[in-house]
This record gives sequence, C-alpha cells and structure tokens, in this order.
Amino acid sequence: MAERVRLAIVGCGGMGRRHLTGFTELARTDFRNADLVAVCDLNRQNAEDLAEEALEHLGTRPQVFTDAAQMVREVELDGADCPTDTGSHHTAATLLLDLGLHTMCEKPLAITIRGCNAIIEAAARSGKILSVAENFRRDPINRLMKALIDDGAIGDPQFILEAGIGGRDSMIITPWRHQKMTGTITLDAGVHNADILQYYFGDAESAFGQTRLYEKTRYKRSTAGPGGFYEKWGKDFPDSFAATGEDAIFGMINFANGAHAHWIDHHAGHGLPFQHRTVYGTRGSLVSPGDRNGRPVRLILDDGTDIMDQRILDYAPSYRLSPVAARLFGGDRPWTYHYDFPVTDRKILALEYHEFAECIRTGAQPEVNGAVARRDVALVYALFESQVAGRPVTIEEVETSAVDGYQREIDEKLGLIATT
Ligand SMILES: NC(=O)c1ccc[n+]([C@@H]2O[C@H](COP(=O)([O-])OP(=O)(O)OC[C@H]3O[C@@H](n4cnc5c(N)ncnc54)[C@H](O)[C@@H]3O)[C@@H](O)[C@H]2O)c1
Repeated sequence: MAERVRLAIVGCGGMGRRHLTGFTELARTDFRNADLVAVCDLNRQNAEDLAEEALEHLGTRPQVFTDAAQMVREVELDGADCPTDTGSHHTAATLLLDLGLHTMCEKPLAITIRGCNAIIEAAARSGKILSVAENFRRDPINRLMKALIDDGAIGDPQFILEAGIGGRDSMIITPWRHQKMTGTITLDAGVHNADILQYYFGDAESAFGQTRLYEKTRYKRSTAGPGGFYEKWGKDFPDSFAATGEDAIFGMINFANGAHAHWIDHHAGHGLPFQHRTVYGTRGSLVSPGDRNGRPVRLILDDGTDIMDQRILDYAPSYRLSPVAARLFGGDRPWTYHYDFPVTDRKILALEYHEFAECIRTGAQPEVNGAVARRDVALVYALFESQVAGRPVTIEEVETSAVDGYQREIDEKLGLIATT
C-alpha cells in the first residue's frame, strides 16, 4: 500500500472543522500517512467552506460533494472520516462502508444499540475497517492514569467517582444535542465518560440508573462551542427551543473486575459547576485533572505519599506514548503539558487520523473498534434502560437489546426496528 492513504471527510460541521485541524497537525509531522482528497456534506456550503479551510491549511483543495456515492464514483479513495451528527451515523457510516470505504466514525458509534449494530454489520459485510473517533482516552494524561492503575500504583482498583455538573438551561453547542431523536447530550457527551470508565476499569457488567429531563426549554447563550468552531452557525439556531432529551443521568455501575463506580453526568446543573474524577484502590487514590487540559495527576497513598509532579512517573513504569504521540506531545512520558484547548484538541485528533490511516495501510485493528464503541453506548443506555425498567440491568441485556424500553421509540422512528 502507498505511503499515504486517500481520505475524505464526510460531515463538515463543527467537528468536521475540528477534524481538519487534526489532519493539518498530522500533516505537519514526519508521521503524515494520509492525504485529504474530498469533502462531502448534505449541506453544500458546509462542504465548500471546509474545502476552503483545507486549501488554506494544507495547500490543496479537496473535491467537494453532497453525495457520498457520487464521491466514490469520481474520486479514488481508501477511506472516509465520518463526523456527521450523532443521529445520522447509522445511515452515513453504513453507506460509506457499503461503498467500500474504510470508515472512521465519530462517537457515539450510533444513536442506539441497533444503530451500532447496523454499522458493525456493514463493516463485516464490506470487510473494511471501522474505527471510532473516541478522543478522550488518547489524551496523554488518560494514558498515564491507565498505566498508573494497571501498574498497581493504588493497589487493587475499588471505585471511581466520576461527576460532571453544570450547563443550567443553556443550549449546549447545537439544538440537536437536546432531542431524544437526534442524540441527547447525556449520550453525546456521556459516551466519553462511559469510555473512560471502561478504559480504566475494563468492561462494566451491570448498572442501576436514574435519568432526568430537567430543563424542558433551552436558551441560546453562547454559540462558540468547543474551540470556537461553531460560531458561524450560531445565527441559524433559535433563541430558545423545547428540549426532549434527558439532560442528567445518575448511575451506579459494577465492573467485571469487581470494582464499582458512581457516575453523574448532569447537564442541567445550576450554580456551582463541578468536575471530578477520582479513582480509589486498596492502597490509595488517583485524582484525575479531567480531559484535555494537561494538568497533572495527583497520587495520594496511605503511606503519606502525596505527589502531583514528575515523581508520579515512578509509579507507572509501563507508561509510554506511541512515537507519533510522543512527537506531538514533546516526549514519550509526559506527566503534564501546556497547550491551549484548540492545540491539545488537534494533537489528539491527529492521533486518531494517524491510527486510522495505519490500520488501512497495514490491516491492523483500531483501538476503539465497533465492539468497544458499542459497549460504551451500552453503558450509557444501561442507565436509561434501568430507569425505564425500574431495576438494575446488565450491560449484556442492553447490548443484545433484550432491554430496550427507552431506545425502542428511537429505533422505530429511524426504521431500525419494525413498528409494533
Ligand atoms: N469527540 C469530540 O470531542 C466531539 C466533539 C463534538 C462533536 N463530536 C461528534 O461529532 C459528530 C458531529 O458533531 P457536530 O457538532 O460537528 O455536528 P454538526 O451538526 O455541527 O455537523 C454535522 C454535519 O454533518 C452533516 N451531515 C449530516 N448527515 C450527513 C450525511 N448523511 N452525509 C453527509 N453529511 C451529513 C450536516 O449537514 C452537518 O454539516 C457528532 O457525532 C458528535 O458527537 C465529537
């Protein structure tokens, strides 16, 4: 296979723009292993705008399409990156795989488990790689947290307290993130936390959840979105709108390793914003600084150790970034880093592109494949399904759709299941 694979970006909204900065970041290194040759969006203006940004940053203008099938007929391509909105993944990513393209889909893999299955089945049908762009675990600080846990820094894992509270009644990035039928915020953002929990502790086994829709009207206050990438669409969003998707989930989770977690993902919290992630073990605890901020991890042990500097590396002998990550983050064992959010963001997105292109070149499987990503969606929905069922549920029940009381309405509306 050629040194560089030929890729398209399909979905040129806010995340498509951010992905382009990741692509550009990779292209500036010796590790470049892909060319961006096409962009595609149902909204032609979004695709044209991204092509212009690509011209500015990469020096070449990808061809513009509004129809993926036509794109595949007219451009030689190896794969596609699919950052379309969450409610469209099950059709957009499935189409790309069926068109014969290796596909990297944004998280969450799909809006329901049956949606995930449709994409996973398309990958199996086509024999093409399915990678899911889950970025939080690629943050070097999360790699360090994982190594600290696996290397026994805190003894045997016992418990994670994971909490994010804030948001009040403000629109979060886009209106679609507040609707059940398009991928509500507790799925759209919560799937990152679900991935981190299972990345740290392995597969979850069962969960008891409570979900709420607290704010039934959301108000447009800021339209910048993460990194300011969404500002240009802000004027198109209504000043206020009705919300139909749950905006808070509260969960108690059991893991196969015997450990436990309490998880709060509350996007309607008023007053004091709160972000917290602490991992407890039989000898001590690790306080995570959160994701993509580069702040140090704090290690507190029963023997009086209390550190949050480079000595923490002594407790994580297995911690070592990949060569490309080491190049982007200035070393193979960083314990902290200092970049503004857009810079950190694009470095991590560069890592996603690099891995995806390497998988295409070598046939290797991506770290977050369809099975891993579906498990993350299942953990989020376990809390929703538990609320509807009025009891704890197993992740297996959710993943096999044996319990689907919450998702069924979405599946029926989207044609993923016959209407009853
Ligand atoms: N990993 C992260 O940190 C992160 C952050 C933000 C968004 N995301 C994910 O990225 C995805 C996109 O989010 P966004 O905020 O950019 O949404 P968005 O609404 O800004 O953009 C979505 C774009 O996809 C286009 N589109 C929809 N269906 C399509 C199709 N079938 N073919 C081609 N184009 C299509 C739309 O026209 C729009 O331009 C979501 O799944 C979201 O969860 C991830």
